[in-house]
Amino acid sequence: MLTGMTHLHSTLAIVLLLALVISIIITLVNLAGNKPYNRKIALIGLISAHLQLVTGLILYFISARGFQNLSGDTMGDSVSRLYTVEHPIAMLLGIILITVGYSKSKKIADAKQANKTVLIYYIIGLILILSRIPYATWSILN
Ligand code: HEM
Ligand code: HEM
Repeated sequence: MLTGMTHLHSTLAIVLLLALVISIIITLVNLAGNKPYNRKIALIGLISAHLQLVTGLILYFISARGFQNLSGDTMGDSVSRLYTVEHPIAMLLGIILITVGYSKSKKIADAKQANKTVLIYYIIGLILILSRIPYATWSILN
């Protein structure tokens, strides 16, 4: 279960990064060309983010790098702190930003404004996500 979930989470991370980049680029092209807001394209990023949230939450409860590792010593060790504290918090915030951006844009009638809103929330969300990926131990990169 743990191995399978870790693999799924590692792989979905790539899917999510690609999905967000695609959502951002196509929305940027639509904004620049004064084209309508494409909700389906933003949805690709949103669904990938929510799927990753589910696998991340499960990992947090079954992995030794999750809540079981929470202690005073965790804060003193940069690798433990990254997995147990910084990674989950930053990712959660990033996913919340993406969800808020998607929800807000859904209700905006003006295409330009809807495109801009998704762009701002998705780009900040992506930066936050990129900032706390455990690159040094990510199985796909190593
Ligand atoms: C811990 C699990 C999850 C939480 C807390 C969560 C939370 C949310 C929230 C707060 C929204 C925003 C609703 C809105 O204002 O529009 C949302 C929308 C959505 N979620 Fe999730 N979600 C979770 C898992 C999933 C999963 C597993 C999927 C599918 C693979 C999914 C697919 C969607 C979709 C498609 C929408 C957008 C619906 C629309 O078009 O408005 N979510 N979710
Ligand atoms: C934007 C979403 C996320 C991305 C892109 C992401 C990415 C990653 C990556 C690349 C790894 C390293 C896996 C490996 O060593 O091969 C990882 C591990 C981990 N993630 Fe996430 N993650 C996300 C969200 C979350 C969330 C929301 C949580 C918890 C609430 C979470 C909890 C964990 C835990 C506990 C591990 C360590 C698993 C282990 O090695 O035992 N992640 N994540």
